[in-house]
Amino acid sequence: MKLHTLALISVLQLSLIAAEKINPRHLHAKRQLPSNSVASSPPPTPAPPPPATSSSAAPPPPPGTPAPPPAATTTSPAAVPPSPSSVVSVDPSPGVTTPLNTVPPLATFTGVPPLADISLGMATRPVPPVTAVFTPGATPPISGAPVLPTALALGTWPPQDRVPPTDSAEVQRWMKELDGFNVPALSPTINGSCLLDPANAANAASRGWWTCGGYTRDTDITACPDKYTWGVSFDDGPSPYSAWFQYVIDYLAEKDLSATFFVVGSRVIERPNLLIEEYMAGHEISVHTWSHSPLTSLTTEQIVAELGWTRKAIKTVLGVTPTTMRPPYGDIDDRVRAISLAMGMVPIMWTNSPSGGKFDTNDWRVAGGLVNGTDSFNTFQSILGNATLLDTGFIVLQHDLFEISVDLAVGYTLNAALNHQPKFTLKAIGECQKFPAGNLYLETNKNETFPFRNSTSGGVDVSGDGTIDTKSGDGGSTTASAGFINSIPFLTSVTAIALAAMGISL
Ligand SMILES: *[C@@H]1O[C@H](CO)[C@@H](O)[C@H](O)[C@H]1NC(C)=O
Ligand SMILES: *[C@@H]1O[C@H](CO)[C@@H](O)[C@H](O)[C@H]1NC(C)=O
Ligand SMILES: *[C@@H]1O[C@H](CO)[C@@H](O)[C@H](O)[C@H]1NC(C)=O
Ligand SMILES: *[C@@H]1O[C@H](CO)[C@@H](O)[C@H](O)[C@H]1NC(C)=O
Ligand SMILES: *[C@@H]1O[C@H](CO)[C@@H](O)[C@H](O)[C@H]1NC(C)=O
Repeated sequence: MKLHTLALISVLQLSLIAAEKINPRHLHAKRQLPSNSVASSPPPTPAPPPPATSSSAAPPPPPGTPAPPPAATTTSPAAVPPSPSSVVSVDPSPGVTTPLNTVPPLATFTGVPPLADISLGMATRPVPPVTAVFTPGATPPISGAPVLPTALALGTWPPQDRVPPTDSAEVQRWMKELDGFNVPALSPTINGSCLLDPANAANAASRGWWTCGGYTRDTDITACPDKYTWGVSFDDGPSPYSAWFQYVIDYLAEKDLSATFFVVGSRVIERPNLLIEEYMAGHEISVHTWSHSPLTSLTTEQIVAELGWTRKAIKTVLGVTPTTMRPPYGDIDDRVRAISLAMGMVPIMWTNSPSGGKFDTNDWRVAGGLVNGTDSFNTFQSILGNATLLDTGFIVLQHDLFEISVDLAVGYTLNAALNHQPKFTLKAIGECQKFPAGNLYLETNKNETFPFRNSTSGGVDVSGDGTIDTKSGDGGSTTASAGFINSIPFLTSVTAIALAAMGISL
């Protein structure tokens, strides 16, 4: 915990943070950079007006930052590169699920500090021992899903928290998944930043670049269809604050709710047991890349590597492969979309408006010391106010990697939504889309039009061993030909239109 805090403070001193969503691992990593490598970034300046401006003022953390020191974790095999085929048992004592609950008091949630005390530097609670255990081979809550692996043969992985190399056999095989898909030849952006890349920002609408103006396509999931419904998600884990501490998982269980966890591949191999816990508790698991880099700034092969390794990590630990993904920082354009869809993953964003307003709790800003908990909660209250004016429901950005953001969620924001008048219904994102649970994983998905596919594509090779594992929609039993569709629906900004129709400018 202390390390996190130190890292945060030192990053603050570099005064770079003003802007994008922060992946705390990068805050960590940045501390290890020569200071000029960060400080030399251009200072935040207002964006030129052409397309709608983004509220972003600085580039997201650079890719390629050094791997952070291993966190105190269950297995942390992850040092790079790990020895091949290191086998990690699912957890010490096999046996039925043992609900934990010793320290600290659970959220609402009595362990949560007063809102006014939630800020960078707040006292942290001790990390309790891992006590929730699942039997290897246990049956997951998704109908038809394979049983949990009996032992986690974690195998060999690319360095954590860096864009994976593209010359591996796996990445070259995954590249074949793009065959038959029309991946637009858009040049990578400069650091995924609207402000650093005025040339691409000027074409943000035509390239469907979310970062600059919130452009989305019909293939993006951007909201829950039903009014007053909040699609709840937590990014950047698997995190001890969701699973070990059980704050998030227990809170959601107590309220009979589920959420979507967008997980980072580097964290998955570091904390596989926590991912298992989230999945076994009935929550939805989705891909959030390997290194949490801005995807539009990467080459096509690098994007394939980011998605492919994360997909493989989740499959290795859970036995299932997500059919959805969320781009870090929301940084997506038509090239990233086409690659994601070709690899069998539908993008999930958060609700956004054309003027740059975002359904973002700013919890990451609290963890970065930029705002305090009260500010973040006030932001959230305005989101709820705005949400009542939407025709649809909404999706909000929240994080589970920091204790601070988890305290805000289980102590305040989730309660505020449940107690709001009119009342909000909280659901995981796939659930709020009314997808059958099986659609969320290739191995259980029987829907031939989700994810969107192409008749000429060869299918998905999750392991990267050269064998096609599945064509989505066949529930994992691949046949030689599968009929699919066609084209990525044309650009609209669903949320933008909904908001504009109401005259709302966020
Ligand atoms: C983009 O990020 C890299 C670090 O990854 C940095 O060296 C470079 O200066 C950044 N580019 C701009 C234009 O700021
Ligand atoms: C939170 O920050 C705001 C300024 O953004 C300040 O007015 C307020 O007093 C702070 N609240 C607490 C509890 O520190
Ligand atoms: C599907 O394949 C056809 C033929 O290769 C191509 O013209 C089309 O653009 C592809 N669709 C997508 C969504 O990539
Ligand atoms: C909508 O959100 C903005 C901040 O993003 C806030 O200023 C405004 O008051 C909100 N509107 C409502 C009706 O809550
Ligand atoms: C299959 O997927 C499509 C596209 O997402 C969706 O409209 C349809 O409702 C899904 N059908 C089922 C049975 O899940």
